[in-house]
Amino acid sequence: MIQIQSIGRPEPICGMDTWVPVPARILEVREENFNTRTFILQFVDAKLREMYRFVPGQFNMIYLSGVGEAAISISSNPHQTQTLAHTIRLVGSVTRAIDRLGVGGIVGLRGPFGHGWPMDKLEGKDVVILAGGIGLAPLRPVIYWLLHHREHVKRVVILYGCRTPEDRLYARELEAWAENGALDVLVTVDNATREWTGPVGVVTNLMRRIKVSAEHTVVMVCGPRILNRVAAWNFLQLHVPPTQVYVSLERNMNCGFGRCGHCQYGPKFVCRDGPVFCFADIADIFAKEEI
Ligand SMILES: Cc1cc2nc3c(=O)[nH]c(=O)nc-3n(C[C@H](O)[C@H](O)[C@H](O)COP(=O)(O)OP(=O)(O)OC[C@H]3O[C@@H](n4cnc5c(N)ncnc54)[C@H](O)[C@@H]3O)c2cc1C
Ligand code: FES
Repeated sequence: MIQIQSIGRPEPICGMDTWVPVPARILEVREENFNTRTFILQFVDAKLREMYRFVPGQFNMIYLSGVGEAAISISSNPHQTQTLAHTIRLVGSVTRAIDRLGVGGIVGLRGPFGHGWPMDKLEGKDVVILAGGIGLAPLRPVIYWLLHHREHVKRVVILYGCRTPEDRLYARELEAWAENGALDVLVTVDNATREWTGPVGVVTNLMRRIKVSAEHTVVMVCGPRILNRVAAWNFLQLHVPPTQVYVSLERNMNCGFGRCGHCQYGPKFVCRDGPVFCFADIADIFAKEEI
């Protein structure tokens, strides 16, 4: 058995109940698609760079003075924490202001917060990762982790769907992972271009192309609300036990650590009890529209 490093939940920088953002510099900005960029950040304080650890699936609160804060998943390699990547869709005031800052700009950062993916429940299992659109961002650290600990699990399948080939996040990495052979990567698009030779259609259609050994599979899903529902439901229909299906959810956030109630989800708080939930723990509220 291999030794798995740091899969416990790391303490947020500056302690658990922190409202105080720590300065981090934007080192690089990578364009993913027309409205999404990956920002490579580094703490200004060298000591914090050494201390900071995260579990795949956790998020940081990114703060801009005079603008506000947004919850953003960490999308980089959990084994390399000298820099952190955040893949951000530019949808509103905070995310657009981060983009306007550009390379060299300073943002405030709090975290890491939340419960991540079940990295301690994967040993000897097949792992199926299903993502839609920007939902691949919180799963990218899982992929790095699995590549690092490849002997720990059996088959790894990535099913990814987006609107067009140009909308793919991490397009070069997806191609490299597919060529590498350590993982099975299937990508589908809603609307193909002339050059696209891969599958066309919704990402859940890709499930028909794989054989799922239900009892021995752990599933991780992240995408828009409707995709989360359909995908989770389809895996349950394939007899994957609810205890082995995990979904990452989004809610508006404020504190990020279970104090303000903004991210209430039934009796739970998404920031504190999630954002990754085991289906078995939320089965009674998952399909309710009003929650
Ligand atoms: C745990 C967690 C992890 C997250 N991880 C990421 C991440 O990795 N990358 C990322 O880009 N976002 C992520 N988000 C979503 C992000 O926090 C929100 O999009 C946030 O509202 C953006 O802040 P803003 O001030 O730019 O937009 P706001 O001013 O809050 O919103 C402006 C407008 O955009 C709309 N809007 C808000 N969110 C979205 C959305 N997701 N899609 C489309 N329209 C939207 C709103 O309805 C509003 O009309 C995450 C959220 C949570 C809870
Ligand atoms: S964001 Fe404050 S309780 Fe979750």
